[in-house]
Amino acid sequence: MTALIKFFQTTTFRLSMTYFALFGAAATVAIAYIYWNTTILLSRQLEQTIQAEIQGLQEQYKQGGMAQLAATVAERSQTPGNSLYLVTDSRARHIAGNLQKVSPELWSTVGRVEFVYRRPAEGGPEKRLAFASVFRLPGGFRLIVGRDIEDRREFGRIISSTVLWGLGVMAILGIGGGYLVSRNLLSRIEAVTATSRTIMSGDLTGRVPISGSGDELDRLSQSLNDMLDRIEQLMNGLREVSDNIAHDLKTPLNRLRNRVEGALRDPSGEAAYREALERTIEEADDLIRTFNALLSIARLEAGAAGKTLEDVDLALVVKDVAELYEPLAEEQGLTLSVDAPDGVMLVGDRQLLGQALANLIDNAIKYGAPVAKPREAKSDILDDISVYVRHCGEIAEIAVEDHGVGIPAQERDRVLKRFVRLEASRSRPGSGLGLSLAAAVAHLHNGEIRLEDNQPGLKVVLGLPLKQGGLSLELNNRASA
Ligand SMILES: Nc1ncnc2c1ncn2[C@@H]1O[C@H](COP(=O)(O)OP(=O)(O)OP(=O)(O)O)[C@@H](O)[C@H]1O
Ligand SMILES: [Mg+2]
Repeated sequence: MTALIKFFQTTTFRLSMTYFALFGAAATVAIAYIYWNTTILLSRQLEQTIQAEIQGLQEQYKQGGMAQLAATVAERSQTPGNSLYLVTDSRARHIAGNLQKVSPELWSTVGRVEFVYRRPAEGGPEKRLAFASVFRLPGGFRLIVGRDIEDRREFGRIISSTVLWGLGVMAILGIGGGYLVSRNLLSRIEAVTATSRTIMSGDLTGRVPISGSGDELDRLSQSLNDMLDRIEQLMNGLREVSDNIAHDLKTPLNRLRNRVEGALRDPSGEAAYREALERTIEEADDLIRTFNALLSIARLEAGAAGKTLEDVDLALVVKDVAELYEPLAEEQGLTLSVDAPDGVMLVGDRQLLGQALANLIDNAIKYGAPVAKPREAKSDILDDISVYVRHCGEIAEIAVEDHGVGIPAQERDRVLKRFVRLEASRSRPGSGLGLSLAAAVAHLHNGEIRLEDNQPGLKVVLGLPLKQGGLSLELNNRASA
């Protein structure tokens, strides 16, 4: 029962009912209009026919009086057809005509009248409708001239039964069609509801089925599925971040706590406290940095950051960052070279691109010191770290190369994950988030990050789509200058 009520409540069902009502009303009006006009036409014809008959009889009466009138009526009554005649004397006795008996009330009326008469038929006399003119003639004689209009009544009956049947069939088709369409629609909506229930119960993998017809419901389902994909991706990102925080930040926090506890127990007093507090501050700063990096990555992956897109000239970014890191490289006894032609433009977030590049240069300085000696012989030919910008077709490439130990091919995917640090670099400070952030920045710019063998060392390439027309515009300017 409730299922049936559900059908009646669907928009499709209501729509089909509205259409049915409108169409039914229109059809009824059209048929009624035809009926009305036909009736008027038939009445006019009837009137004319009777009028002609009367005229004929009138002439006969004028010519030969009552006797000739009765004779003509008797003669005309012989001809089969729909014409009806009756002539009676003053006592209502039948003189001539094919009408046998009429009701006495008919005699009291004069003029146009509609009445029912009996006509002999095969299965006994039948009642039929007639329309006639009644005249009183001198001497008490009466004349009735009319026509059988039973066919017209039959026509009316046919029209009304046509309307009724038509409306009936239309109602059945309308309700039936509405029911079928609504059932189809309802089952597809039910599928969406079922999916949303699955998702509400915690299973984010549920998706709305697509019928493949490409209709508006399919398009809606597709958008819903895309939205669910995105939500699932964001939820997974969130889960990963919280897992990371739970696992990877617990250890440094515990270490911090143990250090403070150890310092409290240290009997050497203030000096020990001071030292412990200073180290605590350092570690807390590290933790804050890690937290910030982690949150930045999460925001980048969720697509929530990098909204401040602008035209970025990569040469400027690379030169700025390289300038910042030069002293640090020198301190480590490393040379840093930059090769960045002007005018490689892309649309992006200058701040984030700078951060990503800084992470790569920081890694090159930390892990990229050449292992092969003697350095002097080599440094004449090659810089220890080189940063350059290039463009290949529609892609701008920022590369950072070093001649350190490099990363084994099988580890190159793994180091892009959060908190992954290779065994060889455990001795250096770091939290294993630098490359993850660079990768997230590349993805945010619809680009990619590639780790390659620099033979020896590591080459990290950020491939980012160029601003459409940016480079060619710049090159044209140069050509015309
Ligand atoms: N240029 C490189 N040469 C060799 N190994 C590298 C290089 N860059 C990164 N790695 C390896 O990849 C790991 C991950 O690097 P990533 O920058 O993500 O973290 P990190 O440098 O350890 O810490 P953070 O950047 O967060 O301070 C490093 O720990 C190191 O083992
Ligand atoms: Mg790093």
